[in-house]
Amino acid sequence: MKTPRELKVKPIRNGTVIDHITANKALNVLKILGLPSEKAAVTIAMNVKSSQMGAKDIVKIEGRELESREVDKIALIAPNATINIVREYEIVGKGKVKLLNNVRGILKCPNPNCITNTREPVQTKFQIIDTEPLMLRCYYCERITNNKDIEDQFK
Ligand code: CTP
Ligand code: ZN
Repeated sequence: MKTPRELKVKPIRNGTVIDHITANKALNVLKILGLPSEKAAVTIAMNVKSSQMGAKDIVKIEGRELESREVDKIALIAPNATINIVREYEIVGKGKVKLLNNVRGILKCPNPNCITNTREPVQTKFQIIDTEPLMLRCYYCERITNNKDIEDQFK
């Protein structure tokens, strides 16, 4: 019998590798990034073994370096994710996503009567009140948003 050769996910030449994504959250991360799109080459690995996390997801995007605003959104779904910037096959930047204390203009408030859901031009603003599990409070109406609500917004 032939011994199967271990297949590794291919390295990318230029772009971003989002590693250590919470297992099974890769599709939410893609949604945040507006992917898949017609042009971008994207590699997804889900539920792969990780010594640090048990299981994790990885997303590799060829030809795109993420903006800080996008990285801030990913933190809400995958708080342990690392962002690796790759140029000519070399990692030229490695960072960890970071939860901001005040989350502005990223999430919708689940309260339909909240001022941020009316015609008023008011940007949403949430304060983080817990991280595990993630819980945020609307600055205007005090409605609590949990990680399930957040996932629903990035589906
Ligand atoms: N990677 C890639 N293409 C490259 C270089 C790296 O896809 N040209 C990927 C690797 O497969 C890995 C991630 O980018 O998933 C980070 O690479 P590296 O820092 O070399 O791996 P680790 O040391 O395991 O990273 P960490 O310390 O963040 O766990
Ligand atoms: Zn509100």
